[in-house]
Parts: sequence; structure tokens; C-alpha cells
Amino acid sequence: MTRRIHLGAFAFHPGGAHVTGWRHETARPDRHLTIGHYKHFAQTAERGVFDTIFLADGLYFWDRHPSGVDHYGQLRLEPLTLLSALAVHTSHIGLAATISTTYNEPYHVARSLASLDHLSRGRAAWNLVTSRYDEEARNFGGDHHLDHSRRYERGEEFVRTVEELWDSWDDDAFPADRQSGIFADRSRLHTADHRGEFFRVRGPLNIARPPQGYPVQFQAGGSPAGQQLAARTADAVFAGYRPLAEAQAFYAGLKQQVEDAGRDPEAFHILPTLQPVVGSTRSEAEDLAEQLLASTPDALIVEDVSHSIGQDLTGRSADEPFEFEPDTDTSNESRSPNRRADALRTGDHPATPRQVYARSFREGIVVGTAAEVADTIEERVETRAADGFIVQSLTLPYSLDRFVELVTPELQRRGLTPESYAPGTLRDRLGLERPARVVPA
Ligand SMILES: Cc1cc2nc3c(=O)[nH]c(=O)nc-3n(C[C@H](O)[C@H](O)[C@H](O)COP(=O)(O)O)c2cc1C
Repeated sequence: MTRRIHLGAFAFHPGGAHVTGWRHETARPDRHLTIGHYKHFAQTAERGVFDTIFLADGLYFWDRHPSGVDHYGQLRLEPLTLLSALAVHTSHIGLAATISTTYNEPYHVARSLASLDHLSRGRAAWNLVTSRYDEEARNFGGDHHLDHSRRYERGEEFVRTVEELWDSWDDDAFPADRQSGIFADRSRLHTADHRGEFFRVRGPLNIARPPQGYPVQFQAGGSPAGQQLAARTADAVFAGYRPLAEAQAFYAGLKQQVEDAGRDPEAFHILPTLQPVVGSTRSEAEDLAEQLLASTPDALIVEDVSHSIGQDLTGRSADEPFEFEPDTDTSNESRSPNRRADALRTGDHPATPRQVYARSFREGIVVGTAAEVADTIEERVETRAADGFIVQSLTLPYSLDRFVELVTPELQRRGLTPESYAPGTLRDRLGLERPARVVPA
């Protein structure tokens, strides 16, 4: 039987997921801070009957190396502000914002997401991240990022506190009866009075329970601690793209952790990234991939590789071989696989920055015609490597326009994605139950 798959449309940067996607001939960097740019993105995804749009975020400007400022640093609108505007320009699609549990307070997040859920009539979602970089810490009064395991401990208490706040009020707690003058039914109120290790939050929340009960929660950390948090608390995981066998092992392992946590693995979606480069012909798609790769200036290639492997290669030529320092430790940033560093560590890697960069670019993309891209999607879903994908457009708006024009009809023809939206909330669309309100006895 064909499995119904779930799709999200990802906006990593306004110009697309590729670091210099903004340079493509069709890109319009002058429009990156306009509602028109994102309206086009969201409405295109909605035309393709995607389940959700999905906005990345970071709480810093990418300036560790000079080329970050010169070539890479793209400007971001704050996601919840942007999604509130997009709620008005769309009708069905989910609205997912990346939110850091390290640099926010639960009350702010519970309130913002509840607001978005009400305004969008049940379409809000968040992508829980613990953040990665010291640059982020320095915008919030610290020098260094909180220790990786502490970030996840804080993250778990954060989620629980947010849920307690959403449960402040029963679903029908506001009779607003003019006759009696009773606005709220006090017997349907619970004040959380949360006192934990990281947070003290009295509550109650000053907004009614969200239409979805709890807005949908994605989790993007892929380390063992990230997977544990996801298995206990999330509705879906946004995972990195891996080779097929590795993706199947990740999928099976995470579903098992969900089951071990006493939850239903079928109601938990694993959605890896997919970076399609699609063309009317394979050679058109390959040309586009080469064009995007070639658009990255040499200085950015060297500094992007430096950033990801934690070894400063700046000032070198992109074509100069370098000795990898195997003890380099980036583990407080992320403990998800660092594919570039791991390949260098095993010696299974070319040795110039340009080769490292090109290889990881090619490993992360799926290049071909609509049928070929649909084949990859279908194979990964049928062989239990994924329940769907978060589609990353290398250059925006072009890559998503092409996906919806070419790949969407192919997926619909194969019965993998629907041709129109059924009524209901994002939670309904993802086949997830609405969480019952939890009130301690
Ligand atoms: C596919 C994917 C997308 C991510 N997107 C973001 C993002 O937009 N913003 C962010 O701060 N972190 C993002 N992260 C990383 C998270 O910050 C994560 O919490 C961090 O890397 C540390 O967790 P880990 O060691 O479990 O990966 C992403 C991770 C993955 C796998």
C-alpha cells in the first residue's frame, strides 16, 4: 500500500538553503525583507499542498570569518512575526517557526505560539532547537554556549513548562456571558505554579488554550540527547539527510525510542531534509547544480569548511591541501554527525577545501527530473527511511517554484501526496491526536 507522505517547505535563508543561492539569476535579494517574497514562498507551498512551511532561525549574524559578512550573511525576518503575517495570506498550510529553548523563556514562547495558533485557526508549529554557537551566547549575556547536555535538560523542562501553560485553561473556559457578567469560568482554570530546576513560572497564561491543544512540535537536534528529547516530547523530527542505509538505521532507532517512551511510533513522523535540484531534463538539473556550486566565492568555501570542521583555514587557497587536526572538537555546538569532519578523520576525504566543499554539496542534493526525484522520495518512504521530507530549496523562489511545477504533480499521480487540503488543523493533517489537557490532581 502506498504510504501518504508529509512535506514541509523549508526556508533556511531568504535566498535559499545554498549559501550563495541568493546569487542565482532569478533570485531577488532586494525583496528578502518584503512580505511579497515570503507570500510567494508560502502560497507556492500551499499550491503544492505541502503540510507546512518551516522557517529556520539563528540568533546571531554569521560573522566568525570575514567572508560571512561579505558573501554569506543573509538577513532574516523574525519567524513568529513573519508567520503571523503569512497566516493572513494562506488558508491551510502549517506555519512552523524555529525557536531556541536556550535563549527564550517558556512564558514568551507559550504565549506567542498560542497566539499564532488562534490567529491561524490551528496551524501553528515550532521547531525546537537548543541553538549551536557561542555567537548566540554573546547576544544573551554569556561568552560561551551552555553545555550540550545542560541545553537538552533545559530544553525538556522548557517544553513541559510551555505545555503546562497551554493547559492553564480548559477548552471551554470562557462563557463571556453578558447577562451574568461572567467572562471566565474560574473552575476551569489551573495556575501552573511551575518550580523546576531552570524555570519558575506561576501562570496562568493570558490566552485561551490553543485550537490544537498544543501546537505541533518538531525537534531538530540529532544527537542521542536530541533523539531522547524528541522521543519523549515531539510530534515529529526534522533530521539531516543521510545515505539510505544510515537513514534507515536512524529511522528504526528513533521509532524504537518513541515506543520505549510509551508512545505510538506511527504517530511520530521522521522528516529528513531533501535538497532537490530538479529540471525538465537531467542535464538541465545537473547544470543548475554546477551553477550553484560555482557561485560560491573561494574565500567563502575556505571559511565555510573552517566553520564546520572547527579548524581555522582562513587565508589559504581553496585548492591548497591541508592537514586535518583530528582532535578538533565541535561537540558543544552539535553532536549530530559532522559529516565533513568524520570523513576527514577516517582519511576518506579529499584534502583541499574546494574538494571537501564540493563533495558535501553533492552528497546533500538529489539531482534529476521530476520522476527521478519522486523515485528517491518514494524509495525512502517505502523502505522506512522517512515518513516524508522537509524540502530545502537551494535558491528561492526558483527551486520551490520548480518543485511544485514538476515534482508535485508526479507525487500526486503516484498517490503519495494529496491533491487538495482536507478541512482541519495541522495536527489533523499530520494524523496526530489533539492532546488532552493535563491538570495535576
Ligand atoms: C535538519 C536540521 C535543521 C536545523 N535547523 C536549525 C535552525 O534553523 N536553527 C538552529 O539554531 N539550529 C538548527 N538545527 C540544530 C539544532 O540547533 C540543534 O539543537 C543543535 O545542533 C544541537 O543539537 P544536536 O547536537 O542534537 O544536533 C538544525 C538541525 C538539523 C539536524
